[in-house]
Amino acid sequence: MNATQPRLQVRDLQIRLLQGHGALPLVRGVSFDLHDGKTLALVGESGSGKSLTALSLMRLLARNARWECSGQALLSDDDGKTLDLLQISDEHMRQLRGERIGMIFQEPMTCLNPVLPVGEQIAESVRLHRRLDHRSARMQALRALEQVEIPSARQRLDEYPHQLSGGMRQRVMIAMAMVCEPQILIADEPTTALDVTIQAQILNLMSRLQEQTGMSMLFITHNLGVVAHHAERVAVMYAGQVVERADVHDLFAQPSHPYTQGLLACLPGRARQQARQTGRTVPLQDIGGQAPAMDALGPGCSFAPRCSACMPVCLSQAPAWRASAAHQRMCHLEGQP
Ligand SMILES: Nc1ncnc2c1ncn2[C@@H]1O[C@H](COP(=O)(O)OP(=O)(O)OP(=O)(O)O)[C@@H](O)[C@H]1O
Ligand SMILES: [Mg+2]
Repeated sequence: MNATQPRLQVRDLQIRLLQGHGALPLVRGVSFDLHDGKTLALVGESGSGKSLTALSLMRLLARNARWECSGQALLSDDDGKTLDLLQISDEHMRQLRGERIGMIFQEPMTCLNPVLPVGEQIAESVRLHRRLDHRSARMQALRALEQVEIPSARQRLDEYPHQLSGGMRQRVMIAMAMVCEPQILIADEPTTALDVTIQAQILNLMSRLQEQTGMSMLFITHNLGVVAHHAERVAVMYAGQVVERADVHDLFAQPSHPYTQGLLACLPGRARQQARQTGRTVPLQDIGGQAPAMDALGPGCSFAPRCSACMPVCLSQAPAWRASAAHQRMCHLEGQP
């Protein structure tokens, strides 16, 4: 694989929820690339389809519903050969999960087994993928706990999830996801359940691990504040679509889609900065209105009803991409992003 080839190429990902005789499109043509050693942040408000996107790549969409996925998710190996995560067999996918792609979820307790010591849970993954004996797998688990900087790691090996603090449990989740040194780590809101200090520690830890291993990261969050420090590229989702893609500095310096502009204006830091500059208290902004119901989308841009720059064409026609080399926006507004 040459240095510029993406590790993962997601193309036109569509996820539909099958209901009765119909299908509700919830993810609508999402495309992005993941590169070794780099982080792509997937941001957007609640319900925009971030988790569905991640879960579909792991083939872990909830079993309580019926889904239809299309598009491609091409994973490259070091020789440049690709396989499509959406097409391979369930058995093949089970081998890849943990081994080549790891995932960290928002709430560790939903993924940790409450009746198994954490060391065994980590070791299980190594035993499965590396076919190690019990003792060697335990040693690997210990190393993984040390790598995520858990104090008294040897003692923690035999502790149960409920004996650990929230931050500690999140570190265990990271250790589990990282123990087989995956090429890709998907982190779905890995720190939103934690207080801000622990959140910063965990995010810094993930960045350090990424530097050490060169893995590629898909970092899902609705908090644009943390994106600036932890991602190189950003894809902004709205109503099941990516509406803007850019390098992180461009996105913050020149947000181009009205939705992204609204998101950035909502950041508390911006309000503080304005307050400092003007000497007056600036009320926190929000984007007026609500995200659209996915079963009642009109023919035009799905953000149009909330958009302050809305034009007649926005209500009647779906926008196409407008692009400069590294910055793209799906919007009818004139001019390059
Ligand atoms: N198991 C499910 N059954 C039915 N609908 C679902 C299911 N999971 C997700 N959805 C719907 O799919 C849409 C996208 O959900 P998703 O969880 O991907 O959003 P999200 O962007 O991750 O939001 P959040 O920031 O709240 O985590 C939502 O409208 C949600 O209600
Ligand atoms: Mg989610």
